[in-house]
Amino acid sequence: MPAQILSGREVADQLLDSLKPQIEAMNPKLVIVQVGDDPASSSYIKQKLKSCEKVGLRHEHRHLAADISFEDLMKSVDALNEDSDVTGFIVQLPLPSHLESHAPQLIRAIDPKKDVDGFGAYNLGKMFLSPEFEHLPPATPSGVIEILNFYKIPVEGKHVVVVGRSNIVGKPLAVMLLNRGATVTVCHSKTKDLAHFTKQADILCTAVGKAKMITRDMVRPGVVIIDIGVSRDAEGLKGDVDFENVKEVASAITPVPGGVGPMTVASLIRNCVRAKERQLEAMA
Ligand code: GUN
Repeated sequence: MPAQILSGREVADQLLDSLKPQIEAMNPKLVIVQVGDDPASSSYIKQKLKSCEKVGLRHEHRHLAADISFEDLMKSVDALNEDSDVTGFIVQLPLPSHLESHAPQLIRAIDPKKDVDGFGAYNLGKMFLSPEFEHLPPATPSGVIEILNFYKIPVEGKHVVVVGRSNIVGKPLAVMLLNRGATVTVCHSKTKDLAHFTKQADILCTAVGKAKMITRDMVRPGVVIIDIGVSRDAEGLKGDVDFENVKEVASAITPVPGGVGPMTVASLIRNCVRAKERQLEAMA
């Protein structure tokens, strides 16, 4: 029997709908900083702005020149930290090559209260401790957890294999799953015999960005597949999984597009609402 399709779009729409009353009541504002013109970033930002429109979230797209100096970029970050009208902001990654090595310093400069990407050490550290402290968790891993919850796919006691070890997806996702009782294996570009591990997965989460790298012979029948990777070819967006073939053996699978992507955006907006809630509490 072909796999159940796990529609992240549906989960995202429900989450966004549920946030509308709080957005109307608290009127938060999200700022998205883009440096340069990376086409993938422009496309992600377009999706984020579209969802802001849809839920009535105030938003601003600050588009900075690709050749901006690190000092000037830091000034923009400082100004956003200081601006009391700005609830939260993100700096879309990757940065242009001359700034890439400064990314950790830049992320460190973002006020944790406004770090709606959840990329800074404070928010990552809280996420590390326990699900109850996930106040501003990183948006993509958080979106994956929401999809699993929505479709009532338990993780406790399951063997989850995560392929990818980035600071914004693979590593935090592994920790969030571990904190929910999963047995987690993390594979990455240096892993020898990837298929040996992927074949053991009850749930396989891939975040690599290499089209069709997970083939039917690399998974066991009944596996749940969460495809987080995104790459582009002439036909459009592609996930990491050979969807057409793998869906014949998996029990459930997220499509690309329409899977994890919309949930990343919805989680970001939820973080913005949560940030506003805390900021108002702190003022009371
Ligand atoms: N680049 C790819 N995904 C993301 C994301 O979720 N946030 C930011 N800031 N940059 C990204």
